[in-house]
Amino acid sequence: MPKTARQSPSQEAQVAKLIGILESAVSAIITIDDHGLIESVNPATESLFGYSASELIGQNVSILMPEPYRSAHDGYIANYLASGVKRIIGIGREVSGQRKDGTTFPVHLSVSEFEADGRRYFTGIIHDLTDRRHVEEALRESERRLAQAQKMEAVGQLTGGIAHDFNNLLLVITGNLELLEQQLDRDEQRALLKEAQEAAALGSKLTDQLLTFARRRHVDTQVIQLNEIVVGVTDMLRRTLGEHITLSTSLGRNVWPIRADPSQVQSAIVNMAVNARDAMEKGGRLVIETRNMVFDADEAGFHSDLKPGEYVQLAISDTGTGIAPEIRDRVFEPFFTTKEKGRGTGLGLAMVYGFVKQSGGHISIYSEVGHGTTFNLYFPRAETDTLSFQDKDVAASPDCQVRGTVLVVEDDERVRQLTTTRLKLIGYQVLEAGDGAKAVEALSGSDPIDLVFTDLVMPGGLSGWDVVARARQLRPGIKILLTSGYAEELVHANDLRRERLRVLRKPYSQADLLAALKDVLGGAPGRPGADGP
Ligand SMILES: Nc1ncnc2c1ncn2[C@@H]1O[C@H](COP(=O)(O)OP(=O)(O)OP(=O)(O)O)[C@@H](O)[C@H]1O
Ligand SMILES: [Mg+2]
Repeated sequence: MPKTARQSPSQEAQVAKLIGILESAVSAIITIDDHGLIESVNPATESLFGYSASELIGQNVSILMPEPYRSAHDGYIANYLASGVKRIIGIGREVSGQRKDGTTFPVHLSVSEFEADGRRYFTGIIHDLTDRRHVEEALRESERRLAQAQKMEAVGQLTGGIAHDFNNLLLVITGNLELLEQQLDRDEQRALLKEAQEAAALGSKLTDQLLTFARRRHVDTQVIQLNEIVVGVTDMLRRTLGEHITLSTSLGRNVWPIRADPSQVQSAIVNMAVNARDAMEKGGRLVIETRNMVFDADEAGFHSDLKPGEYVQLAISDTGTGIAPEIRDRVFEPFFTTKEKGRGTGLGLAMVYGFVKQSGGHISIYSEVGHGTTFNLYFPRAETDTLSFQDKDVAASPDCQVRGTVLVVEDDERVRQLTTTRLKLIGYQVLEAGDGAKAVEALSGSDPIDLVFTDLVMPGGLSGWDVVARARQLRPGIKILLTSGYAEELVHANDLRRERLRVLRKPYSQADLLAALKDVLGGAPGRPGADGP
């Protein structure tokens, strides 16, 4: 090599520098030959894709891609070598990667090309975009929520204004009709008047409902026990809903008092129960539940406008048709109905919404089309003189070093993220699967798994039950914890009892999760002898 004027670093030093860069890079750096076979990988590749270097070298690089890219990849290279048309080289783009466990994730791939010893090579630099996607998704979701909240606020103001004016007009109409009544003596005159009065009465009922939605109705707020109201209303519901609906209740013990208008709580329950009945034309089950909930900042953020703190939850679940995702945001709007003319006015849930908001609470829907729906209402715990306080911090902090690996099977990306974060905080290792098939793949693999934590209802071929069945086949003795947004009794209660399986009800707090894990893992979590951090 000809010497230049300035002293250049030795070849050895240059190689050492390059190796240093490769070893410390956070992105995966992979070199392949012109047949697509892997020549070298850096350590980041191993941690990103879950393969060891020796498993990768000599393999076709397409094993790091999901279908359909996997099958098409050889064609890409051949096409480029033949035509010179660049699709990624020098441009870079977002594609999907596939880990050894079968899970896929978004990546940015840039490729460069070089020649050595008369052969062509390609170097790919792969940057994991998972975190960025999560942030983008969370941002979109919060924008959507904000827009939705603003829309409800605007509709509320408009409705409230109109309803208020109409109420005054109706007052004048009914008042004058009443005065007129005393002056009429002919029967046909009275019949006409009666019709006008009935119409005015209907109008009053309507404006009353609209005022409730717009939070403009006078409310008689008291400190009340939710359980008492539920008990009071269930008898009436049993009689009115009909025999094809089985109603059951599950009332939490020592449920905290809340501050709300008892007659409105009652009518909210009735409204939701009637909706449930309408969604179960061929019959089904309706469950009303109450329980205490403590939301920390993370969990509260999950429910958009909730403040962290103590709440009482009222959940109404049915086994009906479910609510399609595209209308889930709209069901609280006044006059939104899917029912035929004359059967629904679309004001039931609008009233429930207004009342919950006026009580300082929050309402959310959990629904799977074809399976059923749960309406979750949260009311802030009422401040009372006797502060009997359950110490949630004690419950939430692990009292023993927990170890072991949990396979989280959950189709909802946001919920999966939250669960994973929580489990890691407690000290578990976590594997994730976005559906039943991915879970089975992980279970068929060789990674240690101590517990399968699976959602029961998931779209796609395999339900949580199927995952449980396969898990037991593949790994006899494996521990199982189930979770569902539905009332426990609605998800094959008999199977649960027979199998002694536990279902963690969504939404759950960190303390609930920890308690359930301890319960299932039997006080001594983790694999015996496994080394924890
Ligand atoms: N439990 C449920 N299961 C399935 N769909 C539901 C359920 N509850 C509400 N919905 C949907 O939400 C819509 C709005 O409900 P809402 O109670 O506000 O009005 P409605 O029942 O149609 O009429 P109204 O209550 O005024 O008689 C319903 O038309 C229905 O499509
Ligand atoms: Mg209704």
